[in-house]
Amino acid sequence: MAKGEGGGAVNPMWGGRFTGPPSEVMARINPSIGFDRRLAAEDIRGSKAHAAMLVRQGILTAADGAAIAQGLDRVGAEIAEGRFAFRRELEDIHMNVEARLAELIGEAAGRLHTARSRNDQIATDLRLWLRATIDDTDAELASLQAALLDQAERHAATVMPGFTHLQPAQAVTFGHHLLAYVEMFGRDRGRLADCRGRLNECPLGAAALAGTSFPIDRGMTAAALGFDRPMANSMDAVSDRDFVVEFLAAAALAATHLSRLSEEIVIWSGPQFGFVRIPDALSAGSSIMPQKRNPAAAELVRGKTGRVVGALVAVLTMLKGLALTYANDMQEDKEPLFDAADTLRLGLAATTAMVAGLEAMPDAMRAACERGFLGATDLADWLVREAGLPFRRAHHAVGRVVRLAEERGLNLEHVPLAEAQAIEPAITALGLAATAIERSVAARTSFGGTAPAEVARMVSAARRRFLGSPP
Ligand code: ARG
Repeated sequence: MAKGEGGGAVNPMWGGRFTGPPSEVMARINPSIGFDRRLAAEDIRGSKAHAAMLVRQGILTAADGAAIAQGLDRVGAEIAEGRFAFRRELEDIHMNVEARLAELIGEAAGRLHTARSRNDQIATDLRLWLRATIDDTDAELASLQAALLDQAERHAATVMPGFTHLQPAQAVTFGHHLLAYVEMFGRDRGRLADCRGRLNECPLGAAALAGTSFPIDRGMTAAALGFDRPMANSMDAVSDRDFVVEFLAAAALAATHLSRLSEEIVIWSGPQFGFVRIPDALSAGSSIMPQKRNPAAAELVRGKTGRVVGALVAVLTMLKGLALTYANDMQEDKEPLFDAADTLRLGLAATTAMVAGLEAMPDAMRAACERGFLGATDLADWLVREAGLPFRRAHHAVGRVVRLAEERGLNLEHVPLAEAQAIEPAITALGLAATAIERSVAARTSFGGTAPAEVARMVSAARRRFLGSPP
C-alpha cells in the first residue's frame, strides 16, 4: 500500500478508485472518529437491525447474518470495555466498526454495507443518540422542577419583593417566584417532546440518497430501532438535520432559562440582597480576598449558555447553503450537538443542586419589602374599590402619598392619616392598612396570583401536571 505524507495508506474502503493516500492536511481535516466514536453503540445497533433485515429479505444468508451479528457484538464489547483501537485513517465510526468486523469475521463483513450508505447510517445513528439524550434531559428537567416545587411549597407564604426593571414592584411570595421557573422548564420539556416526536422516523434504507434496488424492508428496520416509521423521502432522509436544529433551539432556550435563574441566584445571594444562601459545596472562595464566597456554580451555568446558543447558530449556518442531499459539511453537526447536550445536562445538574440546597432568608426578604413602597398599588386599588375613584386619579394621588412617605422616611402604612387625606380625602385608615405586606400578598387571589393559598394550589397542580403525582 502506498504511504502518504500523512503517514497513512490508501483507504481500504475505497482504495479501488484511488492511487494515493490523503495528504497530511487531509488526514487532519477529514476524520470524524475523534468525536463520532461516541455513536458506537447506536452504529452497532443500526448495523445489527440492517443485517437482520437483509437476512429476512433473502439478501444475506443466515450464516453470514449470524457471523455479522456475533462479530458486531464483539466489536461493541471491545469499544465498551475500552479495548478498541480507533484508527483515524478509517475516518469515522462506521468504517472503524466495519474494518474491525472484517478482522474478526472475514469476508462476510463486506456484505453488511449492502443496500445502505454512510449517509443513511449517520443520520440513523444521530437520531438514535439524540432520542436517548432527549429522554435523559427530560428526566433531568423533571428533577429540577421537583426541586423547585419542594422549595415553592416550603415558601408558599414567604414574602419577598417582586421586581420589574429590577426595581421593587409589588410584594410576592418566594414560592410564587420559583413556580415561574417550573412553568418555563415545563415548556422546555414540551419543546423537547415535540422535537422527539418529529425526529422519530428512520432514515435507514435511504442508502446514499436515492434508495436501493435491493428488496429491503424499511418498515422492519424502523420498527426494530424503535422508530415510528421509515422516513418518506430518501433524499430528505439523508440531508435532513432539522432534528439537530430543533433540539439545539430547545436546548438554547432551556439554557437561557437556567441562565436567568442563575442570574437571580447571583443577585439574591449577594450581601446587598441577602435573600438566599448557596451551600458552601456550590460556592468558591477567592485566592486573595479571604472574606469572599462567590456563587461560582451559578455564574458558570449562566456563562455556559453562550456555548449552547453558539451551537444552534453554528449548525444553522452550516446547513443554510447546502444543496440536497448529503455534504461533508454535515459532519460539523456533531461537535456542537454533543457539546450543547452535555452543557445543558451539566447546567441542569448544577442548578438542581443549587435549588435543592438554597437556604432562603425570610427576614431579609421581608425587610426588603418594607423598603420600596410595595403596597402603593394596593392603596390605589383600594381607592378604586372602596371609594369609586377612577384608577388613573387614584394612581396620581397615591404617587403623591409615596413622595410624602419618602420625604418622611416612612412606609405607606405609617403615613399620618391627616396628611394622606390632605392629598386625597377618600383615603382612610383602612386604605393605608391595605398596604401592609402580608395583606397585599394575601389579597392577590386571582388565578395564578401570588396569594399563599393560590401558590399552594399551584404547587399541587404543577406536581400533577409535570410530575404525574396523584391529585
Ligand atoms: N462522518 C460522516 C458524518 O459525520 C458520516 C457520513 C459520511 N458520508 C460520506 N459520504 N462521506 O457526516
